[in-house]
Amino acid sequence: MASAPPDWNEANRRHWNERVPIHVASAFYDVEGFVAGHRQVEPFEIDELGPLGELRLAHLQCHFGLDTLDLVRLHPGLIGVGLDFSDQAVAAARSLARRVGLDDRCSFVHGDVMAAASLLDPSSFDVVYTGKGALGWLNDLAGWAASALALLKPGGFLYLSEFHPVGHALSFSEPTVGDDYFRTEPWVDETAGSYADESAVTEHNLAVCWNHPISSVLTALLGAGFEIRFFHEFDYTLFRLNEWLVDDGHGHWRWPSESARLPLMYSLKAFRPAGPG
Ligand SMILES: C[S@@+](CC[C@H](N)C(=O)[O-])C[C@H]1O[C@@H](n2cnc3c(N)ncnc32)[C@H](O)[C@@H]1O
Repeated sequence: MASAPPDWNEANRRHWNERVPIHVASAFYDVEGFVAGHRQVEPFEIDELGPLGELRLAHLQCHFGLDTLDLVRLHPGLIGVGLDFSDQAVAAARSLARRVGLDDRCSFVHGDVMAAASLLDPSSFDVVYTGKGALGWLNDLAGWAASALALLKPGGFLYLSEFHPVGHALSFSEPTVGDDYFRTEPWVDETAGSYADESAVTEHNLAVCWNHPISSVLTALLGAGFEIRFFHEFDYTLFRLNEWLVDDGHGHWRWPSESARLPLMYSLKAFRPAGPG
């Protein structure tokens, strides 16, 4: 099995930088629809995040800011800060914030998530929000969890909404197990294009990512000192992960049969304890 090249993080950064303009122009992300007021975050995320007015939210691995800006637009009074290691993503996010008139309440910072606590104000956020294709790009979940905890005020919470590792262990061509759920080696992929535009012509295709079992995520959060409030699983995903998933016409890709399903997304809320320590 392939191991990660020494410069895997820089390769990933080049991969993402090249895809930002493709994503901004894509029907998948539908920036014009977002500007016109379409929702970007999932209804279950809005419900599970709860009321966010007058709070401070950090969005880790924010891409070009659609989710960050959507949450800020949805919750008047919410202050949002997005962080991403792609300078192209941060530039596009700042431009979009100006375009939708939210740059007074939403800013974007360029940098690596593993250094988040030194790039953003530590212990100053009520909420850390992340996910939907974020954790797979990291190989140090303990460091990630510690970074997220360090950003939060005591009593603040992390909300993670992520693609389920079970989904990534399924075969692309048929609804059976096709890969090892417990694999520790990364996927080293060189596929051209993007999930948002499969026909896009791209040059920086090397991408290195990991499938983190649920137990690894929970262990990292508990080890950092989080108290987990809930953990939920969902039977659909947001892109064409496998060719046999069925598009329901509302941006959700579902199992062909309702009587035989496995989870394709999950969410959790985890608190930084309010007391000392
Ligand atoms: C799939 S996107 C995040 C999902 C987002 N919800 C979306 O679809 O718009 C993954 C993001 O993670 C960022 N990223 C990957 N590794 C990172 C790292 N080590 N530090 C900061 N950002 C990183 C990429 O630049 C990319 O914008």
